[in-house]
Amino acid sequence: MGFVQLYPILLSLLFALFSLSVLAQTTSNITLGTSLTAGEDDSFRASPSGEFAFGFKQIEEDGFLLATWFHSISEETIVWSANGQNLAPKGSKVELTSNGWFQLVDPNGKQIWNASSSRTGLVAYATMLDSGNFVLRGQNSQNLWQSFEQPTDTILPGQVLNQPARLVARYLPTNYSRGRFQLNLTDDGNLELCKTFFPTDLVNSAYWETNTSGTGFSLIFNLSGSIILRADNGTIISPILSNILYSTKNFYQRAVLDYDGVFRHYIYPKNSGSSIGSWSTFSIAPPNICLNIREEMGSGACGFNSYCKFNGTNKSCQCPNGYSFIDPSDVMKGCKRDFVSQSCDQTSRETELFDFHEIPNMDWPFSDYEYFHLVFEDWCKQECLADCFCSAVIFRDGECWKKRQPLSNGRLDPSLGGKALIKIRKDNATLILEDCNRDNDRSKLIIIGSTLLSGSVFFNLVLLVATCLVAYRCGRSNPKGDQAVQLTSTMNLRSFTYEELRKGTKGFTEELGRGAFSVVYKGFISDTPGNLIAVKKLNMVKGSEKEFEAEVSAIGRTHHRNLVQLLGFCNEGEDRLLVYEFMSRGTLAKFLFKDQRPTWHQRVDITIGIAKGLLYLHEECSTQIIHCDIKPQNILLDDSNTAKISDFGLAKLLKIDQTVTTTAIRGTKGYVAAEWFKNKPITMKVDVYSFGVLLLEVICCRKNFDVNVEDEDRIVLIDWAYDCFHHRRLDLLVEDDEEAQTNMKQMEEYVKIGIWCIQEDPSARPTMKQVVQMLEGFMDVSNPPYLSSFTS
Ligand SMILES: *[C@@H]1O[C@H](CO)[C@@H](O)[C@H](O)[C@H]1NC(C)=O
Ligand SMILES: *[C@@H]1O[C@H](CO)[C@@H](O)[C@H](O)[C@H]1NC(C)=O
Ligand SMILES: *[C@@H]1O[C@H](CO)[C@@H](O)[C@H](O)[C@H]1NC(C)=O
Ligand SMILES: *[C@@H]1O[C@H](CO)[C@@H](O)[C@H](O)[C@H]1NC(C)=O
Ligand SMILES: *[C@@H]1O[C@H](CO)[C@@H](O)[C@H](O)[C@H]1NC(C)=O
Ligand SMILES: *[C@@H]1O[C@H](CO)[C@@H](O)[C@H](O)[C@H]1NC(C)=O
Ligand SMILES: *[C@@H]1O[C@H](CO)[C@@H](O)[C@H](O)[C@H]1NC(C)=O
Ligand SMILES: *[C@@H]1O[C@H](CO)[C@@H](O)[C@H](O)[C@H]1NC(C)=O
Ligand SMILES: *[C@@H]1O[C@H](CO)[C@@H](O)[C@H](O)[C@H]1NC(C)=O
Ligand SMILES: *[C@@H]1O[C@H](CO)[C@@H](O)[C@H](O)[C@H]1NC(C)=O
Repeated sequence: MGFVQLYPILLSLLFALFSLSVLAQTTSNITLGTSLTAGEDDSFRASPSGEFAFGFKQIEEDGFLLATWFHSISEETIVWSANGQNLAPKGSKVELTSNGWFQLVDPNGKQIWNASSSRTGLVAYATMLDSGNFVLRGQNSQNLWQSFEQPTDTILPGQVLNQPARLVARYLPTNYSRGRFQLNLTDDGNLELCKTFFPTDLVNSAYWETNTSGTGFSLIFNLSGSIILRADNGTIISPILSNILYSTKNFYQRAVLDYDGVFRHYIYPKNSGSSIGSWSTFSIAPPNICLNIREEMGSGACGFNSYCKFNGTNKSCQCPNGYSFIDPSDVMKGCKRDFVSQSCDQTSRETELFDFHEIPNMDWPFSDYEYFHLVFEDWCKQECLADCFCSAVIFRDGECWKKRQPLSNGRLDPSLGGKALIKIRKDNATLILEDCNRDNDRSKLIIIGSTLLSGSVFFNLVLLVATCLVAYRCGRSNPKGDQAVQLTSTMNLRSFTYEELRKGTKGFTEELGRGAFSVVYKGFISDTPGNLIAVKKLNMVKGSEKEFEAEVSAIGRTHHRNLVQLLGFCNEGEDRLLVYEFMSRGTLAKFLFKDQRPTWHQRVDITIGIAKGLLYLHEECSTQIIHCDIKPQNILLDDSNTAKISDFGLAKLLKIDQTVTTTAIRGTKGYVAAEWFKNKPITMKVDVYSFGVLLLEVICCRKNFDVNVEDEDRIVLIDWAYDCFHHRRLDLLVEDDEEAQTNMKQMEEYVKIGIWCIQEDPSARPTMKQVVQMLEGFMDVSNPPYLSSFTS
């Protein structure tokens, strides 16, 4: 029982002893010939009230900062420092030498810092004041040097900065070295916040300023807690941050130019009782640093390629998808791309490997290099995809800005509207290996398309875009020139001379067809099958001879009953010609859309033939070939009405320059699958789609798009066919076709196959192998799902 009473008394005794020793240690002046040593217990001096202290603060393992700080709060917040740029090792001393110099020296006696003053007089002692000002005083207690006159990044109540003056932000919250932002009370009397061209002191344009001018200005943090700018005649120009006052009696206060460039006035309740208080931001300048910093030279409020977000008190810097911080511990260094950037190689533009990440309300105001208006978002995206310089686009109300690297002044704010579309590579996993692997993969994939014999006259924007896209995306892949083989020796391809072909075509007189990039002539060459040939004269071939031969060799390697056979070529100087077997019956379009329709069985044979030809291209020839332009104009018929797919690899040969707004309309949009427009990967399924449209055309013997029909609902065949199927009225499709009516069961199966092929989702479409099996009746055809929309 007695012990229980003694215990508190002992405790309070101990406490009193401890307090005494603390007082003894900390309230004494630094007098002549004395010093404080970094790393020792007694390495600071507190002010009489104990609210502030001066001395060493350990920042890192062997790095000490000579500083002043709030001493009576748990967060010992640093308000001034001498050597942020150059931390002092353990054992360094700050001393007032017997001849009155105040200096910081390392253990070897080398000077790190000194308090040099313009005022004359011998220093007698140094002392920490209750205001937070650390001063060197002379014999008569006059101030010879004060930390208040040599501020770092902080000002305290009672502190006055006379023009010119500046505060320099620290580099990072715990790195006191000189940072990237400054507050400058200039010679002309303007108070401004600037970002520097780090690591120099050179300042960029101000991002916040008072617009004052004159001489004799002072920046004052007065004892009522107001930060004001006062002119020499006593006029107060403006309360800098806020005119609401928190009394310095009840709150500790400080104003700091923070490392993030925001000038903040913080308060901390003095008598927070038992609870531990904390600093809270009371007012700030500028109001929104992310929006206020706009610099034409420099990265903006955050680093390059990043973007800035401000929530009212705190700024944060972030990297867009596909990018990451160069240095996560110093986000102002910006963001780097995590993917290989797009190739600018004309022959492999890689557009299909890139996609966009969308961030609403985002902008990079100063990195644009091209601008468009009155455009659609998809157009804007395509523009960027097709441009290897383009890193992102900003789209806002029909306006489109292309942005280049490095992106600068990035900001995210609801006031901005619009959106940023950031271009990123889809397959980010295979970064380094990619360059090696890609070409191999590519050379397996020959994409074939055609610009020839296109008969459409519909010309509208969608079509034009489709055209550019199709031509462009089909023309992209390109085997390396050195893969060209000795054509004539490895294949039965014949190399013709120009003269030979000129003679054979009677000087290119009998024209069979014409496209934007070629004309086809009938010719006669004695030692060819039937002695007849079709000569395709290409007039816009780009690329080298080797590339041409590589393409031609790929085409020449194909052999199938349902493909038009390439017989030879001519490659002389500027002249590039392809020689094909001659198809006496012309195109399927001609055969199908004439008054006398082909018989049902002819039509069935033709569709199966085309399907088999495509199956061969997709799965059976040595290099996979996507045709890209299946339509009746590209199917030819021989004497026995065997369907033969024509036009191989031409878009690739022609490598159509997509900046040329070509008037050549390739294919009608009705044959083009939705993924062309949506920047989705182009697969074999685009041919399946086109085949589906063609199949319906063959069944119904009419064009997919026919404005001459009376009933509006029937203008687009694929829509109408689906409606008929849906309402179980397939008979309407073949109203005046008795032959088809007697084959309604097969006709229904074929319509269902057609609808399966034109599914919007490429993966829902069957493969050509399945199509062939279904057409031949070896595989059941289930009912196709409801179609949500058509691209027609
Ligand atoms: C510091 O020294 C000066 C001059 O000797 C003296 O006036 C002052 O009271 C001293 N302060 C403290 C806290 O000891
Ligand atoms: C104080 O430091 C300045 C600059 O660092 C230097 O020029 C000067 O010589 C130093 N003064 C003394 C007394 O060491
Ligand atoms: C602080 O940052 C500067 C600039 O990056 C660097 O040179 C210095 O080493 C850093 N200091 C510390 C203590 O980390
Ligand atoms: C401060 O302003 C003055 C002009 O009044 C200029 O000479 C000086 O370079 C500025 N300093 C900084 C760090 O902004
Ligand atoms: C100073 O002038 C600039 C430019 O005219 C203006 O944007 C800014 O709001 C002004 N600053 C103040 C504090 O009035
Ligand atoms: C500090 O400035 C404010 C605003 O100008 C003023 O109302 C207040 O009286 C000033 N306080 C002192 C102690 O000068
Ligand atoms: C005081 O000085 C400021 C700035 O130089 C000026 O705008 C103001 O008119 C002056 N006021 C008086 C009363 O002279
Ligand atoms: C701003 O963000 C910081 C954290 O980054 C958070 O502590 C603070 O509460 C936020 N302020 C507001 C007003 O949302
Ligand atoms: C931002 O907010 C966090 C707390 O959420 C705080 O610790 C930090 O000091 C604030 N200020 C800055 C400049 O980061
Ligand atoms: C890269 O891909 C992985 C998964 O494929 C994904 O989780 C990651 O976010 C991607 N990285 C970037 C930078 O897009």
